[in-house]
Amino acid sequence: MCGMADFLVTGGAGFIGSNFVRHVVATTDATVTVLDKLTYAGSRESLAGLAENRVTLVRGDICDAELVNQLMPDHQVVVHFAAESHNDASLSDPTPFVRTNLVGTFELLEAVRRHGTRFHHVSTDEVYGDLELDDPARFTERTPYDPSSPYSSTKAGSDLLVRAWVRSFGVRATISNCSNNYGPYQRVEKFIPRQITNIIDGVRPKLYGAGRNVRDWIHVADHSAAVLRIIDQGRLGETYLIGADGEKSNQEVIEAILALMGQPADAYDQVSDRPGHDLRYAIDSSKLRSELGWEPQYRDFSTGLQQTIDWYVANEPWWRGQKAATEAKYAVVGR
Ligand code: NAD
Ligand code: DAU
Repeated sequence: MCGMADFLVTGGAGFIGSNFVRHVVATTDATVTVLDKLTYAGSRESLAGLAENRVTLVRGDICDAELVNQLMPDHQVVVHFAAESHNDASLSDPTPFVRTNLVGTFELLEAVRRHGTRFHHVSTDEVYGDLELDDPARFTERTPYDPSSPYSSTKAGSDLLVRAWVRSFGVRATISNCSNNYGPYQRVEKFIPRQITNIIDGVRPKLYGAGRNVRDWIHVADHSAAVLRIIDQGRLGETYLIGADGEKSNQEVIEAILALMGQPADAYDQVSDRPGHDLRYAIDSSKLRSELGWEPQYRDFSTGLQQTIDWYVANEPWWRGQKAATEAKYAVVGR
């Protein structure tokens, strides 16, 4: 099916969106239009090197109903990545989160309803809240929604809009909720690239609080492959959780980065904790694996992490322009 499809990828100039576009170009013969506002989190450089006859970038806002409606007839599938994505930013100013994540998703749903276009909504495991460290449970598709932050609550709201448009209007949609991604092209505001680029700059990594919080890491290439598999073979109206059994405490991740970059294990600073900081996320992805046969390719975290470190070392021009502004924002809140 994908060989025939023309994709409209919202947020395709961001971290996961640009990796997804590269995955589509590498594994199918589909053409892609990227619709991206190019906020601070998006950049043309993340799409550099992709053939012009395969990928077109339209700079625009998913809240712009006229533009979104104009683009719809030319595309068979909308893959919706665009969002305000950073929890710390949502604590400083929730306004763009409500607008883009809720109103933007609403405008896209109205457009796909009007045009009968297939829709895939990319969401997060954070909609389920957090788990205790010693809880054997993991999130499943049946876990009740319980988001904590302005970011995760707006993503939860966007998921509920998609479900309502499926049930009320028969929109042909699927939803995926994925755990923490790492890999190339991730903004340096996020945990792993922030620490790698700090070490490159001779600055000590910053650990929030005691560093016991657990995240369930997945390589972005595995997320991309899972999204494409759901678009190809997923059942309409269904939600699929995406995860690669990658639970690690933040302290373990910092120590792994330090070791791979030849630094002492204790060469990091503890800084003040994130308000409302979710303790632990963990994904049970057995529905995706058993129904659709998806399996992660990156099973060894240190191999994926080493490749990610190598990418940031080799691609300093991609991230250098973000670094000072990002650290200035963290300095304001003492982190
Ligand atoms: P990102 O912040 O790197 O990229 C977001 C992109 O959306 C940017 O290119 C930005 O310019 C664009 N954008 C923002 N507002 C827009 C608007 N109003 N109109 C058009 N474009 C707009 O985010 P990411 O980490 O790549 O996350 C992508 C999606 O995946 C999000 O929906 C996020 O909730 C979800 N997700 C992320 C993770 C993760 O670990 N990063 C995990 C699970 C799910
Ligand atoms: O779980 C999926 C979510 O993962 C996505 O929905 C979000 O878009 C994505 O940003 C991510 O959210 P987190 O808040 O978990 O990611 P972040 O990279 O900001 O932080 C990861 C963990 O590391 C978190 O426990 C906070 C901690 N942290 C973060 C930074 C930036 C630190 O200890 N030090 C830091 O400098």
